[in-house]
Amino acid sequence: FMAQLWGGRFTRETDELVYRFNASVTFDKKFYRQDIQGSMAHVKMLAKQGILTEQEKEQILEGLQGILTDVENGKLQITEKYEDIHSFVEANLIERIGDAGKKLHTGRSRNDQVALDMKLYIRDEIAEIDGLLKTLLTKLLAMMEEHTETYMPGFTHLQKAQPVTFAHHLGAYFEMFKRDRQRLSDIAKRMNLCPLGSGALAGTTYPLDRDYTAELLGFDGATLNSMDSVSDRDYLIELLAAMSTIMMHLSRFCEEIIIWNTNEYRFVELDDAYSTGSSIMPQKKNPDIAELIRGKTGRVYGALTALLTTMKGLPLAYNKDMQEDKELTFDAIDTVKGCIALFTGMISTMKVNKGRMEESAKQGFTNATDAADYLVNHGVPFRDAHGIVGRLVLACIEKGIALDELSLEEYREISPVFEEDIYEAISLKTCVEKRQTAGAPSQKAMLQAIAKERAYLEEN
Ligand code: ARG
Repeated sequence: FMAQLWGGRFTRETDELVYRFNASVTFDKKFYRQDIQGSMAHVKMLAKQGILTEQEKEQILEGLQGILTDVENGKLQITEKYEDIHSFVEANLIERIGDAGKKLHTGRSRNDQVALDMKLYIRDEIAEIDGLLKTLLTKLLAMMEEHTETYMPGFTHLQKAQPVTFAHHLGAYFEMFKRDRQRLSDIAKRMNLCPLGSGALAGTTYPLDRDYTAELLGFDGATLNSMDSVSDRDYLIELLAAMSTIMMHLSRFCEEIIIWNTNEYRFVELDDAYSTGSSIMPQKKNPDIAELIRGKTGRVYGALTALLTTMKGLPLAYNKDMQEDKELTFDAIDTVKGCIALFTGMISTMKVNKGRMEESAKQGFTNATDAADYLVNHGVPFRDAHGIVGRLVLACIEKGIALDELSLEEYREISPVFEEDIYEAISLKTCVEKRQTAGAPSQKAMLQAIAKERAYLEEN
């Protein structure tokens, strides 16, 4: 441990506790690659500006490349001997190339350096999460294409409402995950300004070319205020909010799958590979993966709340509190990536029980609205039609039958408007296929929506 940094007034034991409490290498080593990448760009810029000689630049770049290679191939370990990843790289560089290495940190502070590293790291992670969402959307679209005639009940209040198709139900989630990707892309665009060159908080006296560094690192430009640059964590809060929304969508979907997978529903059956057993009840096959994804949602919400709370009282500019952004953001990212991947595997392997879905859609008076619409089409005002069908439903409930099972006489007892064609008008197929407005469940409308979703996936 670098006890000497803290002077003599600490006992050795306190030294160690303070050092460990303060250190961040155990988690910021995650972005060693980005730290080296940022240093390389910084050094190239320093040389271009005449602040370093070409020779110094070459030496440093070679040293940094050597560190990168050795870390990647396991020759060099990032240990807790170093306070953070920045100290690790700089110390190793000096060890390798001597005095030239001591010039790396010219015109730079760890405050703008860590702001840069985190942005570079997050930029890559956003691309990865986006890729996972795209795979999920591709899978969902294939399932939608397969199930445009798989009828199922649509619910409101978890009570059977009107029939839809499985494709239509899946299409709702397609829209949610599509918006999630759009949110990620907005964040990536907004955050893509380079903080390097902001120094500790007030810029630097060296003639840095910040636009050049920004360009080397693939940013759209340099940030405009050095105090904001070192203390901005907005993009992480936005990302945590976007990831919370992704988890909320996954969680709702999991909740439905858990319900559909119950003995009572049996709309789907999760694959053995995505289910777990009970240590005591031999018959059990539990949807643990869906439950865990639902459960882990709380953890990502927690990260969002934690970072918002960490930031709320901070005066400008950098404060050490901000180091707390890392562990919770990393954890949330790993959680979200794992959950999307597992969820995709789970729905790709689950069996869809079309017969059960259709049978269920036929019960629970999901065609009552259509019976009322039938009357409206024959000149009955909707409010009266609603009342008439309500009485029919009551009669059915007393007899324990469905609307389709009433005789025409029974229909006509309540309203003489009914004719033989009422049965066709309230059949499950009619109820779905007549709903042809844009965004509705009929196969016709669904195929149009699917074509648009396919075009979206091809472009994005
Ligand atoms: N580990 C620190 C962080 O993550 C790096 C910046 C340290 N700067 C400082 N002035 N102590 O925020």
